Amino acid sequence: MARLVEKILCILFSLLVIASCSVSPVHSRKFKPSEPCKRIVLYYHDILFNGTNVANATSAKAANKTNLGDFKFGMLVVFDDPMTKDHHLLSPPVARAQGFYFYDMKTTYNAWFAYTLLFNSTEHKGTLNIMGADMMDQETRDLSVVGGTGDFFMARGIATFQTDTFQGADYFRVQMDIKLYECY
Ligand SMILES: *[C@@H]1O[C@H](CO)[C@@H](O)[C@H](O)[C@H]1NC(C)=O
Ligand SMILES: *[C@@H]1O[C@H](CO)[C@@H](O)[C@H](O)[C@H]1NC(C)=O
Ligand SMILES: *[C@@H]1O[C@H](CO)[C@@H](O)[C@H](O)[C@H]1NC(C)=O
Ligand SMILES: *[C@@H]1O[C@H](CO)[C@@H](O)[C@H](O)[C@H]1NC(C)=O
Repeated sequence: MARLVEKILCILFSLLVIASCSVSPVHSRKFKPSEPCKRIVLYYHDILFNGTNVANATSAKAANKTNLGDFKFGMLVVFDDPMTKDHHLLSPPVARAQGFYFYDMKTTYNAWFAYTLLFNSTEHKGTLNIMGADMMDQETRDLSVVGGTGDFFMARGIATFQTDTFQGADYFRVQMDIKLYECY
């Protein structure tokens, strides 16, 4: 009987050791928000197609708003927007943002973004994939960088949005402060 108890205790102890070994590497990884391994600040320029500005528009409404609430609920915009290093729309783009956003809140302006930043310059080649809620009432919004390719292989991090300007319904600019916490 004593030997059996000893055996069971021994097995339990081994299981505990194995479990703690396999868990600890995950728990020991710590990301400090103030210490990204890479940081890129870019400006996103969205010029909505209004029916006549074909030469300048970079995005278009793909689904109309619904009548649910007064905040464009349901409106879907697909974009292929230039990303620049400074505020200026006509600065040479360093990447393109391709994807979509739609309005998804009944009681205020709130959008959901999912897009890829495509880099194809001498500085960077590769993509970053970003998605999340853009709660426009807030000064800054954090979206997730969920992956990357090329120079951004397996990247993960946070993209902080801050609206820079809003000119009517047709043009807006957002500062995107991209901080990566996993770099390879
Ligand atoms: C579309 O935008 C262009 C450029 O901003 C402007 O000149 C034009 O009047 C607009 N058209 C409509 C129908 O709003
Ligand atoms: C359209 O873009 C051109 C440059 O490509 C610019 O000169 C022009 O002012 C723009 N027009 C509007 C209405 O934004
Ligand atoms: C969206 O709805 C407006 C009226 O609210 C209409 O004039 C317009 O043609 C619609 N656009 C599309 C893409 O269905
Ligand atoms: C990247 O840029 C080079 C040179 O401008 C071009 O030849 C190539 O097709 C581009 N690649 C992509 C994926 O856009």
